[in-house]
Amino acid sequence: MSRIQIRDKSFVVSISAEKIQTRILEMAAEISRDYEDKKPIFVCILNGAFIFAADLFRALSIECEITFLKLSSYSGTQSTGVVSKISEIKVNLKDRHVVILEDIVDTGETAVYIVEEMKRHQAADVRFASLLIKPKALQHTVRPDYVGFEVPNDFLVGYGLDYDGLGRNLPDIFVLDK
Ligand code: IMP
Ligand code: MG
Repeated sequence: MSRIQIRDKSFVVSISAEKIQTRILEMAAEISRDYEDKKPIFVCILNGAFIFAADLFRALSIECEITFLKLSSYSGTQSTGVVSKISEIKVNLKDRHVVILEDIVDTGETAVYIVEEMKRHQAADVRFASLLIKPKALQHTVRPDYVGFEVPNDFLVGYGLDYDGLGRNLPDIFVLDK
């Protein structure tokens, strides 16, 4: 299935499921090396990162925990520029080594919000792992410590990413066909 239709929009495959899985194994190996003996806690940013987090987390070879933070900033195919917190982290992150798991860094607004949020929780240190980054859309100085793929500034769906709630279940990542 190389072309799909979601509502009014047509999408074509951009990154295959196989490529995604290979890259995630590499990222997991790197993070496992960096966090050996640190017992990190991963914070999965819902909704978009849940599939990436599930695959990456299973590939880690170290002792680790995971928790979830639900944020929202996107409406349709555009970032609204305003990040809202939908649910609060209940776990104590004070003095913990935190690794944020995000599906994509676009304008960077969400990433900035998360870094501030982690300061509030008094984590020992915070690193950022994002499956995707759109370097041309970035409007802040934040840069993830671990990046799966750099992608052009086009709208994507699949592998957790949605268009109005749809398309998250696709195993490949698709790009809007303009
Ligand atoms: P930012 O705050 O502009 O960096 O946007 C980050 C959030 O917007 C991500 O966590 C995604 O949930 C969502 N997002 C950004 N780009 C896309 C896209 O191309 N497709 C679907 N969701 C996206
Ligand atoms: Mg997201």
